[in-house]
Amino acid sequence: MYNSKIAGLGYYVPEQVVTNNDLKKYMDTSDEWIRERTGIEERRYAKKHEETTTTMGARAAEIAIERAGIAKEDVDFIVFATLSPDYYFPGCGVLVQRELGITSQEVGALDVRNQCSGFMYALSVADQYVKTGMYKNVLVIGSEMHSMGMDFSTEGRGITVIFGDGAGAAIVQPTEDMSKGILTTKLHADGTYAEKLAFISPGSHGGYHDDKDYGFPDKDTPSDIFVTQKMLDEGLTPHMEGTYVFKMAVQKFPEVIMEALNDQGLNPSDIDLLVPHQANLRISAFVQKRMGLRDDQIWNNIQKYGNTTAASIPIALTEAWENGKIKDGDLVCLAAFGSGFTWGSALIRF
Ligand code: COA
Repeated sequence: MYNSKIAGLGYYVPEQVVTNNDLKKYMDTSDEWIRERTGIEERRYAKKHEETTTTMGARAAEIAIERAGIAKEDVDFIVFATLSPDYYFPGCGVLVQRELGITSQEVGALDVRNQCSGFMYALSVADQYVKTGMYKNVLVIGSEMHSMGMDFSTEGRGITVIFGDGAGAAIVQPTEDMSKGILTTKLHADGTYAEKLAFISPGSHGGYHDDKDYGFPDKDTPSDIFVTQKMLDEGLTPHMEGTYVFKMAVQKFPEVIMEALNDQGLNPSDIDLLVPHQANLRISAFVQKRMGLRDDQIWNNIQKYGNTTAASIPIALTEAWENGKIKDGDLVCLAAFGSGFTWGSALIRF
């Protein structure tokens, strides 16, 4: 058995900056409301028809690969987390393999669908593969292009103002130094609340879970209808009960962080840097207070990028590292909560 370590980190955010005031062109909102409730000042939107979830992931991956001191061809497995894939299927794992030009290696590519916790799940998978000696250079990517699938009318403002586009990536490698690397990962889920934050249609549900009328043809008629006219008329956009999500998040973040710390016999005061999923600055502030952490023990960048879901942790982690906030020997804690509900944490000794 080995330990696994993060050998290289990279992130990519699109050039186009969209401020809160820019959003006022499309919906009834205000800079004050968005800043006060979420902490967000601006976000990035990808260049439509030129950039995709995959291409952004590839740009982040190229940086992580270079920093790990390996060649693209050395990547022996890919784990790609996103809720906004280029295609419904196949997933972005194979597309990023192609985008990176490493198809001839025929390395496996796995897609993770765990929304805001996507990177935690993806990292945990990579950790297990590396620890057992199965792979030596696992490329882990979290990437999102939300701007292609949101409701820009006033009706959708509660969700649309929160999310942004971007990507982050890590190379996970084995290390024989058992005191370093990924010390533990903790993953959880509770499907009871699946629809509290969900992109429901299109899908194969046929109204099964909520018995709502989605305009599907008579149940006895064989049909391969996946998207109904009614869905199209109502708009294919996400649904979120924000207040409910908020309440669960502030409960689960501290819980899962403490679970990881207890597992390692550590305390919150041992954390050099907490990099929480960037859901809402108020959620991060609550978690910081609950864990008794100083301002210099937490990294937030939601102000600049909004919530980039599976990309938020690798973007924030890379940025913190680039800013010299992570030094050799530091204990870094990652934690996420989101749709599913799913949540998780990781403790990493750099
Ligand atoms: N601009 C202006 N007003 C807005 C608005 C916007 N963008 N979005 C909502 N509002 C209005 C609502 O219509 C509501 O008006 P009303 O009181 O007249 O009905 C009012 O603001 C309060 O809305 P509410 O949804 O109760 O606000 P909130 O304080 O709960 O904040 C969120 C909303 C979404 C910012 C907050 O609930 C949140 O961040 N939740 C967690 C979401 C999350 O993290 N999701 C990702 C998964 S981790």
